[in-house]
Amino acid sequence: MLYSPRSNGNPTSGIHAGEMAARQASQSPPARDDGDFCGMRLAIFGCGGMGREVADIVRRGISSTDPIDLVFVTDEPDGPVQGIPVIRPTDLRPSDKICFAVGSSDDRRTLSVRFSHQPLATIVASTAIVSSSAKIGEGSVLCDYSVINNSALIGRHFQGNSFCQVSHDCIIGDYVTFAPRVSCNGWVHIEDGVFVGAGAVIRNGSPGRHLRIGKGAVIGMGAVVVRDVPAGASVIGVPAR
Ligand SMILES: CC(C)(COP(=O)(O)OP(=O)(O)OC[C@H]1O[C@@H](n2cnc3c(N)ncnc32)[C@H](O)[C@@H]1OP(=O)(O)O)[C@@H](O)C(=O)NCCC(=O)NCCS
Repeated sequence: MLYSPRSNGNPTSGIHAGEMAARQASQSPPARDDGDFCGMRLAIFGCGGMGREVADIVRRGISSTDPIDLVFVTDEPDGPVQGIPVIRPTDLRPSDKICFAVGSSDDRRTLSVRFSHQPLATIVASTAIVSSSAKIGEGSVLCDYSVINNSALIGRHFQGNSFCQVSHDCIIGDYVTFAPRVSCNGWVHIEDGVFVGAGAVIRNGSPGRHLRIGKGAVIGMGAVVVRDVPAGASVIGVPAR
């Protein structure tokens, strides 16, 4: 699991080919260093299904002799959830590292602006496989058995649910959501705020031309995407239309 301190990047900026070199220079490859948790408090915004899944990932990934200080954050706390305290945003400490465990890309974008003063946590499940050549943006969550392959570049606040995969040379923007079992094959460029539903498969592009999913597009569960998807479009089915 990785806790990474926040850089001073623009929280709403996208990930584009021209920025790749800068991102590669500024981001460290994910590493599992449970010691990073020592003495810190992790604040998970949202205690719904995703929040509880993230809490499980965090609690499973650390040794029982080194318990992590973990809290949920919501606007209307209503007592502890599964033994984890729930606090208001006003009760956050400046040093708390926060991650946004909400499924909506738009909500994560809004939260990243609202909590721009707070350091970000990047969470990688102990069962996830991440190539040493891949780059993961701050605030991202990689759930169990997700796979990020060679030279993949992933933006900020990516949410990769269980068993999703991002193949080699993909470029994934900010606030992108992959539901469970999404399969994104090589040389695909997914722009900011795209939602990809459970079990969707995205055909590979080529070295000379990435297959492109435009900003804010929605790919339905089970879709098979065989060509570019325009920004803002919703597509379903096989082949996806
Ligand atoms: C594509 C999607 C966003 C559309 O949602 P929606 O706008 O609320 O659509 P509706 O449920 O009203 O369905 C509209 C029609 O499309 C069909 N449809 C919906 N999703 C479909 C899909 N993924 N594949 C094929 N058909 C689908 C419905 O059967 C319905 O058909 P009908 O008009 O003949 O009855 C949604 O169905 C979806 O796939 N969401 C992803 C869910 C997911 O992956 N969740 C995991 C969260 S981590």
